[in-house]
Amino acid sequence: MANKEEKADEKQSSWKDFIYNPRTGEFIGRTASSWALIFLFYLVFYGFLAGMFSLTMWVMLQTLDEHTPRYRDRVANPGLMIRPRSLEIKFNRSIPQQYSKYMQPLESFLQPYNDSLQEANEPCPEGMYFEQDDVEEKKVCQFKRSVLRQCSGLADSNFGYSEGQPCILVKMNRVIGLRPRGDPHINCIAKRETPLQMQYFPTEGKLDKRYFPYYGKTLHANYVQPVVAVKLLLTEDDYNSELVIECKVEGSDLLNSDDRDKFLGRVTFRVQVSK
Ligand SMILES: *[C@@H]1O[C@H](CO)[C@@H](O)[C@H](O)[C@H]1NC(C)=O
Ligand SMILES: *[C@@H]1O[C@H](CO)[C@@H](O)[C@H](O)[C@H]1NC(C)=O
Repeated sequence: MANKEEKADEKQSSWKDFIYNPRTGEFIGRTASSWALIFLFYLVFYGFLAGMFSLTMWVMLQTLDEHTPRYRDRVANPGLMIRPRSLEIKFNRSIPQQYSKYMQPLESFLQPYNDSLQEANEPCPEGMYFEQDDVEEKKVCQFKRSVLRQCSGLADSNFGYSEGQPCILVKMNRVIGLRPRGDPHINCIAKRETPLQMQYFPTEGKLDKRYFPYYGKTLHANYVQPVVAVKLLLTEDDYNSELVIECKVEGSDLLNSDDRDKFLGRVTFRVQVSK
């Protein structure tokens, strides 16, 4: 009995000794100076690794251009997007609460196109690229929201939603250095048997060449991309049924029928208006 107790005592004291041994001054099996050496070693070791990492990172960053990405596949092939951002636009034209959620995004998207703001930008000539490769301070070609007429939200702050003929804004994503050839314009169709009447602003859905090229966020700070507004001229027969609309950029070398990327040069969305 006594023997057992002694053994248990011994066990406990050796465990305690392991944590801190008062005779040798060891802490978890090592002396303070031994621990200090270990910490010093790792400090130097990791310090060296961090230094190596920072150095290689720095060397790599020196080789990058601040304004243009190094690797770009498909340079000249931007995607299309619409505003309101939703690809499923559904509302009852008699109930403002149902379409008011689309008004705010349209209004805020158009803020930079404010006529008074755009007055400060260049009234550049139509139909040609606005080349500024050799210019230090890149200027911005004027795009006033008033050119979107009935879809500008100026005369009709409901963008046609209250009359059941909604406006959709189609924009092309920015691609640095893009110079689309030909006469790029937006063309939309309803995917059904009978065609749907639409109205384009600016006329013919033109994406004028003067808004290209774009020089990037830092060099071309206040750049505004061209926008095309499409007003869907729905009639009585078109209400209460879902319409699938596809818009494409046409008339240029921009791709618009890639099998794998359904936003490359085109965008498809659904619209259902009831009254
Ligand atoms: C935009 O234009 C309207 C009228 O032209 C003006 O009241 C408004 O303050 C302008 N907004 C900005 C952000 O400049
Ligand atoms: C749309 O709203 C009006 C007015 O509230 C209502 O009479 C009509 O039934 C609604 N249409 C549909 C398809 O829900």
